[in-house]
Amino acid sequence: MIEDLQKLEKDALAELAAAAQEDQILGIRTKYLGRKGLLTGLLRNIAQVSKAEKPLFGKRCNEVKELLHTRIEEALQRQTRQKKDDILIKEKIDVTLPGRSVKYGRTHPVIQIRGEICSIFASFGFSVVEGPEVELDYYNFEALNIPKDHPARDMQDTFYIEENIVLRTHTSPVQVRVMEKVKPPVRILSPGRVYRRDSDVSHTPMFHQIEGLLVDKGISFGDLKGILTAFLKKVFGEDTTLRFRPSFFPFTEPSAEVDIRCVICKGRGCRVCGQSGWLEILGSGMVDPAVFKNVGYNSEEYSGFAFGLGLERIAMLKYGISDIRLFFENDIRFLKQF
Ligand code: PHE
Repeated sequence: MIEDLQKLEKDALAELAAAAQEDQILGIRTKYLGRKGLLTGLLRNIAQVSKAEKPLFGKRCNEVKELLHTRIEEALQRQTRQKKDDILIKEKIDVTLPGRSVKYGRTHPVIQIRGEICSIFASFGFSVVEGPEVELDYYNFEALNIPKDHPARDMQDTFYIEENIVLRTHTSPVQVRVMEKVKPPVRILSPGRVYRRDSDVSHTPMFHQIEGLLVDKGISFGDLKGILTAFLKKVFGEDTTLRFRPSFFPFTEPSAEVDIRCVICKGRGCRVCGQSGWLEILGSGMVDPAVFKNVGYNSEEYSGFAFGLGLERIAMLKYGISDIRLFFENDIRFLKQF
């Protein structure tokens, strides 16, 4: 019996040494240590062992059992490690390769300009408010002193949603919405998208404007000039020259368009400024008493000024872009430059 045990131990270790696969190792475990296994069988026959040999036989049996257990466990662990190594080799993972770099996006040039302008006016004490892009005819036109069927409507070619609902053609309706809600003093800036039925190198059906409105006691055209001059010098540089040109808007009186000396030719005359030496930058004026009346402000007590400018136009002049449509084509080669 002792010899059987010794042979069993030798065989088992030899088989284990030759086993490469997990299922082979598990097979060996069942073959020797399982409930119907060889070692178990040997132990079951202990009755046949002579009394004198019994203690030694029992002790050896346990030793073999322990040993096989440990060796099988080791073999299984080796096997798992090997499997991992195999995967690494097969898949050829080169951990020394540099990682893939993250591509950073950037802010659209129009939105950059919007941020710049908002922070300049924030430093003048203006706060930012927004209004709806789908707007009532009343706010877009009527409350701004542009009655139905009045020729002044021809200034802005409009998209109608329904008879009394339009895509706003400018940010000026926000002036009315704000004044309806708050008592003066008012000092707001309102950026946003506006829509007109227009499309060529300098017009897109959707573009961005920023509206400004300041109302208080004793506000004069001098305040308008002062604020807009300070603002334009911050955007285009301290040496920027300005010109206030008489104009007409139904909701301001008097009205002025503001031009700057052409940033391209410095006033000598070029294609961008149409040989005039001046670039039209924004529309402005003193809020018309008719508008104050519509929102319930007393125009004897309060006065104010408003202005509106196109963000794409500012971005085009600032960066020397010749076609407004480039802003909305989403060509990464264009957008990457800002
Ligand atoms: N809303 C005018 C436009 O889009 C611009 C403007 C705003 C003019 C405020 C005067 C005052 O043309």
